[in-house]
Amino acid sequence: MLKLFSLIVDLMDFKNILLAWYRENRRELPWRETSNPYFIWISEIILQQTRVVQGIGYYYRFVESFPTIDALARADEDEVLKVWQGLGYYTRARNLHAAAKLIVEKYGGVIPESYEELLKIKGIGPYSAGAIASFAFKRPVPAIDGNVYRIIARVFGLFASPYTAKGKGEFFSLVSDLMDKKSPDSFNQALLDFGALQCVPQSPKCPICPFVSYCYAYRNNMIASLPVKAKKIVPKNRYFTYLLIRFNEYTFISKRKLNDIWHSLYEFPLIETDKLPLPEDIVNIKEWNQLLEGSNASIVYFSSPVKHQLSHQTILSQYVIVDISEVTEKLKNSYKCVKRGSVSNYSTPKLIDNFLAAEPAAKYFRND
Ligand code: ADE
Repeated sequence: MLKLFSLIVDLMDFKNILLAWYRENRRELPWRETSNPYFIWISEIILQQTRVVQGIGYYYRFVESFPTIDALARADEDEVLKVWQGLGYYTRARNLHAAAKLIVEKYGGVIPESYEELLKIKGIGPYSAGAIASFAFKRPVPAIDGNVYRIIARVFGLFASPYTAKGKGEFFSLVSDLMDKKSPDSFNQALLDFGALQCVPQSPKCPICPFVSYCYAYRNNMIASLPVKAKKIVPKNRYFTYLLIRFNEYTFISKRKLNDIWHSLYEFPLIETDKLPLPEDIVNIKEWNQLLEGSNASIVYFSSPVKHQLSHQTILSQYVIVDISEVTEKLKNSYKCVKRGSVSNYSTPKLIDNFLAAEPAAKYFRND
């Protein structure tokens, strides 16, 4: 496979064509006028959050507020967040601040030069490590973002997935081979501009592209299908019936231990089934009987189904409020008996919080 690539690479002289294009078309951007690794680092983290045009203002504001890594390390977190305000995803700003402190403490305020060392810093992933190492220190390492995946997948017909570790490895190795080792900074910047201006996601400017005669995707009419897309994960449906048991002023909860969603959170006794049981059927379910046989259970309230969307699962839940007068062995052995009013002291999944905050729970469950 790579042999074939190298052949094509020789043929088309990828880096020279790309660099010639860059000389004609490059954007003048403030972080390109410096080799200060701190400024470059700041710009790259901002550009993960916003587009170039909007990023310029934030970049100036940030480096004016915190002109050195020491200044950033010494700043109050609130000050940093204030300058970041409007960019969103504040974890990035917190990581940046924490990383500045770490670089001051561990590296004497000097940003490491190598890709591998940069990767050890919180908030610096493979793309940022490659960008800082190549732009600031001229290290010949790829800086692969969405633009680069797109260009490489299209021009070389690389069908590897940018969403898997194996696929990422294939891109990294091909870009490493293609790279201009003498000017890795210009090579990587050129790819970013080529992706932003020329080989754009929709309607790329193929008729004026310097690679048009070689481009695999263009020749095979596959512009729209390269790079390959992330596999769509079909959300799995799950059906949860929660039993909110009333025993005097007590109820029963347990901590989720399984290798599953909501690890370590507390929940009410749960019956998970293949579909939600109807009120008339629930008493015939095995788990209901294991839990409540001999307890003189009587149903006080049966909710309608509530949908709760997680990233990869759809939970359809319902809530049954049940009175009992005897505590069964199963309840005694497998659940924690707590005052109903104290359930809110435990961390519970959002969908349980929602039910507890709603009217039926206020009326039938939290009333003492
Ligand atoms: N996007 C991310 N980093 C960039 C850079 N250095 N120049 C232009 N666009 C970018």
